[in-house]
Amino acid sequence: MQITSKSWDNIFRREGHVFIKPHEFLTEFIAAIPARPASILDLGCGTGRHLIALAEQGFHVYGFDRSDHGLQLARAWLTQQGFQAGLCVQDFLDPLPCAAASFDAILSTQVIHHAILANIQKTISEIYRALKPGGLIFVSMPLYPPNRPDIKEIEPATFVPLSGSERGLPHHYFTEERLRQVFHAFEILKIFTDSTRHLCIFARKPESDPSPS
Ligand SMILES: C[S@@+](CC[C@H](N)C(=O)[O-])C[C@H]1O[C@@H](n2cnc3c(N)ncnc32)[C@H](O)[C@@H]1O
Repeated sequence: MQITSKSWDNIFRREGHVFIKPHEFLTEFIAAIPARPASILDLGCGTGRHLIALAEQGFHVYGFDRSDHGLQLARAWLTQQGFQAGLCVQDFLDPLPCAAASFDAILSTQVIHHAILANIQKTISEIYRALKPGGLIFVSMPLYPPNRPDIKEIEPATFVPLSGSERGLPHHYFTEERLRQVFHAFEILKIFTDSTRHLCIFARKPESDPSPS
């Protein structure tokens, strides 16, 4: 099977922004971020719906994504609104291009499940490293079991669509138990399922623990 690493780039080229309205939890997430101006990373920012919403609140915003076209749309949208952001073409499977403790908060909605579980765990370690002690995260993952047809399981709970625009792209589906396990290094503040059937975690990096175990 062809692994389509350009799936989302092709989707953004064909369909434009796709996501416009910020996630339903974003207001609560923003309210919990204490220091302003704070630096916030959107990992897998896509075409920038959260970069815009965060820039409007006066944060320093950074967006990493593998889709060059997604970032082009994000940049144009930010410029049109009079905002700036640090945008970078970046695969989350690679080490993040930032020093340890760079960000006050990191969000990543519907992104890092696009990998096998071992690689998701490496990415979560990178998120932990890039976050300041006491920093906040908000991450969403699809809820197990999958409810779409025509998919193949390539390892427990990781599926690839056999057709459609995400053909060949891995999707790991999470139970609450698995989510708690992969984010064990964080203090979990809240876990909930959103209106699009994604399991969401809102959590904090401990102030006193400088490294994940
Ligand atoms: C469902 S979209 C979500 C976009 C954005 N987070 C949002 O909520 O509007 C998935 C995003 O993940 C990005 N993505 C998928 N795999 C990636 C990878 N390995 N590295 C970086 N970004 C990736 C895609 O380019 C796309 O922007």
